[in-house]
Amino acid sequence: MMSVVSRTKRLGVLGTMLLSCMAFNASSAWEDLPQEEYEAVLKGKFEQGNYSAKGADNCLMCHRRNETVMALFEGVHGRTENPASPMSSGQLQCEACHGPMGNHNRGGKEPMITFGKGSQLSASAQNSVCLSCHKGDDRLAWHGSTHDIEEVACSSCHNVHAAQDPSRDKHAADENCLSCHQQQRAQIHQRSSHPIRTGQLNCTDCHNPHGTLNTAMLSEHNINDNCYACHADKRGPFLWEHAPVAEDCSSCHNPHGSVNEAMLTQRTPLLCQSCHAGVHSGTPVSQSGQDAFGGGRSCLNCHNMVHGSNHPSGKLLQR
Ligand code: HEC
Ligand code: HEC
Ligand code: HEC
Ligand code: HEC
Ligand code: HEC
Ligand code: HEC
Ligand code: HEC
Ligand code: HEC
Ligand code: HEC
Ligand code: HEC
Repeated sequence: MMSVVSRTKRLGVLGTMLLSCMAFNASSAWEDLPQEEYEAVLKGKFEQGNYSAKGADNCLMCHRRNETVMALFEGVHGRTENPASPMSSGQLQCEACHGPMGNHNRGGKEPMITFGKGSQLSASAQNSVCLSCHKGDDRLAWHGSTHDIEEVACSSCHNVHAAQDPSRDKHAADENCLSCHQQQRAQIHQRSSHPIRTGQLNCTDCHNPHGTLNTAMLSEHNINDNCYACHADKRGPFLWEHAPVAEDCSSCHNPHGSVNEAMLTQRTPLLCQSCHAGVHSGTPVSQSGQDAFGGGRSCLNCHNMVHGSNHPSGKLLQR
């Protein structure tokens, strides 16, 4: 195992965070402490900055039989050759994530920073540890993003004590998203849907789970730019545009799936009539499917170029 020659004793980001908002209150029965007091104990440890002189070697004296712990060394965070990796010498090793050991080794009495469902720390406190190294481009918009505000932890989607991070397998990553997003799970199983179930398309093709400055954490500036990335033919320019198409694809389509064909939010003619209420008022538009207006493809029987037309006489989107 690696051992540590010299390491600077410094306050992690969590330390700074806790220092700025908590009052120190030492206590020993930490497992039962309410979150605030538990965080206060950790804050005290950061204040004292008692990092272990032996680094990981020290921790592993007690934790090496735990398979979860040892799996760290199969993943990127356990590499020693990458100087940015927590395990390389000069870094704080285990304590880069779990905080200074302090008196934790005295029978495990003092808490360490913990992660995941069982953790007594708020998600934002846990996340500040990860962000101390990962504040790169892809996560610039994390702060204030919906997942940040909703207290979703990095470790809800990532696992560092593992040979491979789960986000590397896109299909498994989708399944993880769907474990929280039940509405989208239902939509992608409906009659017409984007092929997400089969793994042909992934949540992250359209969304950045780390947040963006755009609506719904979309990767592109707006919904249409998002759709054009794959459906370039719908961008035009068209000689005869259909106003809502250029404006917002989602005024007619659900981006994940729907019970109607072509992922339409409503079936025709209702969809068209939601905006064109009084049209063809001379002709009663039947909903019974018996005439050209209500039957077959309904309005699309005649106005079939619904996304726009390039035909010189396609003003009414019929050719
Ligand atoms: C003298 C033994 C000992 C040493 C050394 C030690 N620990 Fe622990 N640690 C324990 C005991 C005991 C517990 C509580 C029982 C448990 O959860 O395994 C514990 C719990 C933990 C937990 C919480 C586990 C959970 O599931 O909630 C973490 C994280 C942890 N230790 C990390 C470390 C790190 C990092 C180091 C080195 C800086 C370290 N420990 C050094 C004995 C030790
Ligand atoms: C890159 C950050 C990071 C580093 C470095 C790290 N851990 Fe962890 N540790 C975590 C996270 C996150 C979890 C929660 C489980 C998960 O997501 O992998 C965890 C879980 C644990 C647990 C609880 C495991 C269980 O059985 O549930 C222990 C104990 C632990 N770590 C000890 C260590 C020791 C010892 C080291 C150094 C050899 C270490 N950790 C290095 C982030 C880290
Ligand atoms: C001490 C710095 C440090 C800390 C703290 C840290 N990481 Fe990392 N992380 C790294 C390095 C270095 C890499 C490898 C980057 C590379 O290879 O380009 C990495 C890679 C990753 C990757 C990519 C995994 C892969 O398989 O390519 C994920 C995901 C990740 N970290 C999540 C986390 C999470 C979640 C936490 C908090 C629990 C965390 N990191 C804490 C340094 C850190
Ligand atoms: C809602 C799930 C989710 C959350 C929460 C999340 N991530 Fe990710 N992360 C992913 C997915 C999915 C990928 C893979 C991205 C892809 O396929 O394009 C990823 C990729 C990464 C990578 C590797 C790629 C890169 O950009 O270097 C790092 C590092 C990372 N995340 C760090 C973090 C950190 C730090 C946090 C917490 C602040 C976090 N993530 C929160 C889902 C998440
Ligand atoms: C641990 C639960 C959890 C996981 C896992 C999760 N999310 Fe979320 N997500 C939430 C919560 C809570 C909200 C806010 C309520 C809502 O909109 O459903 C949210 C909101 C969103 C939003 C709407 C953002 C907005 O600003 O309107 C998108 C998009 C999203 N998540 C995408 C994803 C993707 C993609 C993944 C997988 C990479 C994922 N989520 C994984 C909990 C989660
Ligand atoms: C083809 C692109 C695309 C894919 C793939 C995609 N989404 Fe979306 N998603 C969108 C768009 C566009 C919106 C915004 C819809 C709106 O605002 O009307 C959205 C909105 C959302 C919202 C917010 C919904 C709300 O009512 O506010 C969540 C949550 C979400 N998506 C989760 C997911 C999850 C989880 C996956 C993977 C299973 C996924 N999305 C895959 C394009 C996509
Ligand atoms: C990452 C690529 C990608 C993005 C982005 C994308 N799509 Fe798709 N879309 C596909 C694929 C792949 C199919 C399936 C094509 C096939 O089966 O021929 C599809 C199919 C469709 C269908 C036909 C569904 C059916 O059942 O006939 C509609 C409608 C559609 N997309 C609308 C949209 C809208 C609206 C957006 C923007 C919110 C969008 N797409 C964004 C890749 C994408
Ligand atoms: C005014 C409503 C409306 C708007 C807005 C709209 N669509 Fe459609 N779209 C439809 C209808 C209706 C169909 C079914 C056409 C058919 O069956 O001939 C359809 C079908 C599709 C299809 C599958 C068939 C094909 O033509 O490839 C795709 C892909 C599609 N739309 C993408 C988009 C994109 C991308 C946008 C935004 C740029 C968009 N749509 C905006 C009404 C609309
Ligand atoms: C979200 C609202 C909306 C929906 C839904 C919608 N349209 Fe339109 N449509 C418009 C607007 C706005 C115009 C432009 C009207 C104008 O320029 O006076 C338009 C123009 C048209 C025109 C050309 C009329 C002209 O005078 O230039 C036709 C034909 C048309 N729509 C048919 C349809 C059909 C068929 C559907 C259903 C598939 C549909 N529309 C759905 C809003 C909508
Ligand atoms: C049998 C063919 C046919 C069907 C079906 C049809 N239209 Fe038309 N539509 C026309 C023709 C021809 C015109 C131009 C003459 C007119 O105004 O009657 C027109 C004109 C329009 C116009 C532009 C003129 C105006 O009054 O604003 C709109 C919008 C329109 N239709 C929408 C619809 C909608 C919505 C439906 C479905 C409920 C529909 N059409 C069904 C043939 C049809």
